[in-house]
Amino acid sequence: MSARLPGISPQSPAGDGAHLRDLLTSLAAARRSSQLYPPEHPAVAQAIGDLKSAIDGLQRGGAELTLTFFDGELVFEDRVMTQESILFDQLIRSIGALGIESMQIVPGVSSSELARAVRILSEDASDIEAAGGIERATQAAGLTGVRFGHVRLIHSDVEASEDADRDRRAYEGAVDLIREMDQIVRSGRTPDHRSVRTTVATLVDSVRMRRSAMLELASLRDFDHYTFYHSANVAILSLALGSLVTEDARFLGALGTGALLHDIGKMTVDRDILNKAGALTPEEWNSMRDHPVSGARMAARMPGLDQSAAVVILEHHMAYDGSGYPRRHSGQMQHLASRIVAVADAYDAMTSRRSYSEARPQDEAMALVAESAGSTLDPTLVRLFVMMLGVYPPRSVVRLGDGRTAVVVRPGGSDPLRPVVKVIAAPTGELVEPVLLDLGGAGAPDIERCLDPASLNIEVDDYL
Ligand SMILES: [Fe+2]
Repeated sequence: MSARLPGISPQSPAGDGAHLRDLLTSLAAARRSSQLYPPEHPAVAQAIGDLKSAIDGLQRGGAELTLTFFDGELVFEDRVMTQESILFDQLIRSIGALGIESMQIVPGVSSSELARAVRILSEDASDIEAAGGIERATQAAGLTGVRFGHVRLIHSDVEASEDADRDRRAYEGAVDLIREMDQIVRSGRTPDHRSVRTTVATLVDSVRMRRSAMLELASLRDFDHYTFYHSANVAILSLALGSLVTEDARFLGALGTGALLHDIGKMTVDRDILNKAGALTPEEWNSMRDHPVSGARMAARMPGLDQSAAVVILEHHMAYDGSGYPRRHSGQMQHLASRIVAVADAYDAMTSRRSYSEARPQDEAMALVAESAGSTLDPTLVRLFVMMLGVYPPRSVVRLGDGRTAVVVRPGGSDPLRPVVKVIAAPTGELVEPVLLDLGGAGAPDIERCLDPASLNIEVDDYL
């Protein structure tokens, strides 16, 4: 049996999110009871009964129900369930470890059959393997109403390259928009909100559909055009983080707009001050510190622009602990969207080379972000951010346990220490034909440490 994994979109089916969470909660509970008690124990019967009610709630007497566990993410009815994938990470990983990539439940499945299916799910992966794999175990249990299977990808190479083109266009659209706005603002005109709205809508769609591909793009840098790339990167990082918190389209639209425009106030600051290598004079520093206020004013003058974006622009340098600028009144909480942008902004700025500072290696920047949790940055958001990008974010150059050198391409499925990398050099240091390697795979080496690409003379962009 093989389940199809069609074009995936990440939205929750309206109203089904709560039912799905009920199902996952009761599945996790039934699995636990089945591990702790013998099959005839009342606790097991109770848990199976709860699971059956949750399934009935989702099926509503209708069609077959399919859950797909793909690359550490849960897919339900062709949609990536972003929040549930994080909430039920442990359950999804345990099921994946059994070699199960999809689970289909037919309408009206009996409780006794559900109990047998849950018993299989509560086995150790090594026991299932010793018994001849998941297909054998399913056959032996005589399951017909619950089917475990594999995923067959139907995404063609053509579709994949179309997606890649679309993602790149979304990214470049964001960079170009900021470049154009910079020209408009510096010539004393007010930018139009319509192109902002289209660009942000495209970014929101791309991040929600293909988060890890967009996170790869969000690591692009251009020293000479720092602000343009930085703005696009902060927008993508913020949207990726924000979509882990909520799938509310209106919130994500405002977040994307605020994140993309967070530094528009700098467009009125003299370029010599922005690019100054040495310390700023008090006057120069004052004009820099004014950019959240002037940016928010500028956004407020753009009719049709979502005005929540102005709040994000105003608050992006305020800190979680009440420090930062502009000063906020005591008791005034920094908006959730502003707290998200603050995390993304801090990380992207640290990993970029500036006229006054060198870029920090990715793992060092991530460690500094983690250190700021609870002081300048929101600790919950920092935890999600580290989980999202991994301890070794995209673009990190790493030495593997077997001595080979690799560039991190994207975060792994579930383990923040085990990303997907491109191996670029042998243990001897000799460059090899780059090859993709998922460090989450069986037998893959650990990461020993992060390396400084500059000292190795490696151009990371060549490998992404
Ligand atoms: Fe800023």
